Amino acid sequence: MIPKSGNRFLEKIMLKQTSHPGLRAPGTKRGRRAAPSRKRGREGWGPATLSARLGGHVTLEAHADGDIVACFDGHSVGLGKFSAGAADRAQGLRMGLPLGSFASDRRSIDKEVHRLVRRLARHGLLEYRLGRSPDGEDQVVIEPQLPDYWPRTPPLGDADVLVLSRFAYMRRRGNEMVLESPRAGALFKICDPKIATALAVLSTPQQIKRLRRQDGFPGVELLALLVDCQILFKIDPARDSGLRPAEGNDDLVLWDFHDLLFHARSTEGRHANPMGGVYPYAGVMAPLPAVRPGWPGKKIDLRKFSAAPPPCPPPQAGEGKGGGSPAAKRLRERHSTRSFDDRRPITLAELSRFLDGTARVQSRFSSRLDLGDGGPVVAYAVRPYPSGGGSYELELYLAVDKCEGLARGFYHYDAGGHALVPIGVRAHELEALLTGAAYAMAAPAAPQILITIAARFGRISWKYSSIAYALILKDVGVLIQTLYLMATDMGLGGCAIGSANIDLFAKMTGIEFHVEGPVGQFALGRGTAEAARPPVSGSPPRRR
Ligand SMILES: Cc1cc2nc3c(=O)[nH]c(=O)nc-3n(C[C@H](O)[C@H](O)[C@H](O)COP(=O)(O)O)c2cc1C
Repeated sequence: MIPKSGNRFLEKIMLKQTSHPGLRAPGTKRGRRAAPSRKRGREGWGPATLSARLGGHVTLEAHADGDIVACFDGHSVGLGKFSAGAADRAQGLRMGLPLGSFASDRRSIDKEVHRLVRRLARHGLLEYRLGRSPDGEDQVVIEPQLPDYWPRTPPLGDADVLVLSRFAYMRRRGNEMVLESPRAGALFKICDPKIATALAVLSTPQQIKRLRRQDGFPGVELLALLVDCQILFKIDPARDSGLRPAEGNDDLVLWDFHDLLFHARSTEGRHANPMGGVYPYAGVMAPLPAVRPGWPGKKIDLRKFSAAPPPCPPPQAGEGKGGGSPAAKRLRERHSTRSFDDRRPITLAELSRFLDGTARVQSRFSSRLDLGDGGPVVAYAVRPYPSGGGSYELELYLAVDKCEGLARGFYHYDAGGHALVPIGVRAHELEALLTGAAYAMAAPAAPQILITIAARFGRISWKYSSIAYALILKDVGVLIQTLYLMATDMGLGGCAIGSANIDLFAKMTGIEFHVEGPVGQFALGRGTAEAARPPVSGSPPRRR
């Protein structure tokens, strides 16, 4: 898996860097936080203001022709043409431009500033601050986690009752306190400890009227922003206790806290953290050895046993070359293929055999669950690979770039009916999926077919507590090896891909990320002649 930077959503957007000074505030290249205000005593007065502010690593450059360009980490991205007045107003983004100051859209300059701010937001270059004065200390800083996050404040009345989501948590990040949730489109950096205390009260349902009387009341605007991010949710005290696990969405009932967090943070699409092979400790410590140093003591040498004829024919020269049964041969031949011969794409007949052999439902049965006083009847489907608890929660979705006899597009594999069902998706989404796979493999082009392995989470978490998501990942490993071996057996090429964008999949399918979503990917096709050859023993493999 190749490195992904932590630069919000921008890995793929690289435009020519310019050098005009324009909006770069002298001496404010990185740090632009306000110094602690000397007027702190007054900060308790009046409501907090929500402002948009450039991320710490971003500078804006205004060019003479009206172009405004954002620069960050050696990249630049064009934001369009703007008037001199709008460019001037945009300077306020360094310290924070109140959202209310351009919200009216009545004046054309407001419209321009709005357009600029929304573009910056879409590129993940903004954060939002809540503070009681422009040059005072931040109370809360909102860091978007999704490219389409925009702070919204749904209306809240004094009679409304709010409670914290059971997926929300506060933790130390460096020397900061952050409030997060795998469901939230943004992370909240809590700069004022009083706000943290005030929020802790919301572990039990609270009426806003009562909260207002509380010391350190954070203000309704923050509460509304947290409701918008599903960190807080509104309850009807007449109808429920506030501790309903569904939180307004029945599919959440089946999720454990740690499982949903792990899913959202270990995949792409719903967070802005660095991801993939970024070697975070390369400068800190040496890598662990490829092979574990042996335990001390007398060894039982197995080489002479594995060399014995049937079932395993004699070994070839060199380390670990023994074993010649058909299965052992396939295991040794198996290797990852990342470049595909697009002049001879995989055919529909091959794809059909591949799916038949790896994922097709072979038979079905059902059995009554023995829970002492009777239990529900549970249906099962037998498939070629093993699955924790016989759950078979994994589904295959195929993004087809090139397949002879099958149109380019996105399909679901109906494992029960052994059929492909087309799913209408936007062209740019299909492109993004395929390009993402090429990027993850550092491949010259998209794979002929990209298989997304998606989990129906509820199928497994209905039974298992605490280990549900871990089981899913184990099942993915099992299935991936099955796909590798079948591809090898058929003379095709394949490669596992360790990352998947769960937000993109949700957009393509219209299924919420916690209902069914990607947990693995596999590139498939006919390898180029070079890629089809197994790596020569002793030659270094490509690093991922
Ligand atoms: C879970 C998993 C994730 C992987 N992710 C990637 C990936 O994102 N990109 C890639 O090029 N290879 C990926 N690979 C392939 C490995 O790099 C490859 O299996 C390993 O280097 C050994 O080489 P071989 O498969 O050719 O024997 C992945 C393999 C596994 C099992």
